[in-house]
Amino acid sequence: MESYLLKEVDFTLENAYVDAVLRFSASTFLFSDSASCSVGPILSQLMTQQETYGQGDSTYHAAGGQAGIRKLVDCFFDIMGSDSRYLTIYNWHPADREESRDKLALFLCGWMGGPKPFIEKYGTIRIPAAHQHLQVTEVERDLWLECMGRALHQQEYPVALIEYLLRQLFIPAERIRQTCMGE
Ligand code: HEM
Repeated sequence: MESYLLKEVDFTLENAYVDAVLRFSASTFLFSDSASCSVGPILSQLMTQQETYGQGDSTYHAAGGQAGIRKLVDCFFDIMGSDSRYLTIYNWHPADREESRDKLALFLCGWMGGPKPFIEKYGTIRIPAAHQHLQVTEVERDLWLECMGRALHQQEYPVALIEYLLRQLFIPAERIRQTCMGE
């Protein structure tokens, strides 16, 4: 059993994004015999980190609540507006980018499991449909995610939170691309 466990752990460590494997290997093999297994604490710690986010409003609080998310979004738009590589997606936004900042920040509060101030202020929204009029290809999707990645790294966030958020943000970003491309 131990060699199988090590194989699973190697695979998991090389593929930090494969949550399912991590959970499966941990719950099935680890805790039944953790005392005799040296990789137990490492796997246990990884699992705790992964499972902290995405539970209730834990992500919202880890990101600093509404104030922290506003700071993140301000940084995101500042980066987008200060590098010519992002000019296309920056210029797609309405001239009043204060409202764009407000909308994204309030939306992300609810998206991270916190309160839903976006709905209170602006009403309901379907994210893919809200972008349907744009030509979001893989290029624009990745530029948007790159800006967000840079902004996330400028916050005082644990690496595990940054990786978790980027992984999760890819999902709506890709859904937007598919909708815009009519897929
Ligand atoms: C895939 C890359 C993305 C690009 C290029 C992009 C670009 C834009 C642009 C240009 C607008 C302004 C649209 C307009 O007013 O005409 C916008 C609005 C918005 N975006 Fe994105 N976006 C992307 C991904 C995302 C993601 C992943 C989220 C949320 C997780 C998001 C949340 C929003 C929200 C909440 C608004 C305001 C929508 C409204 O009130 O109509 N965007 N986005």
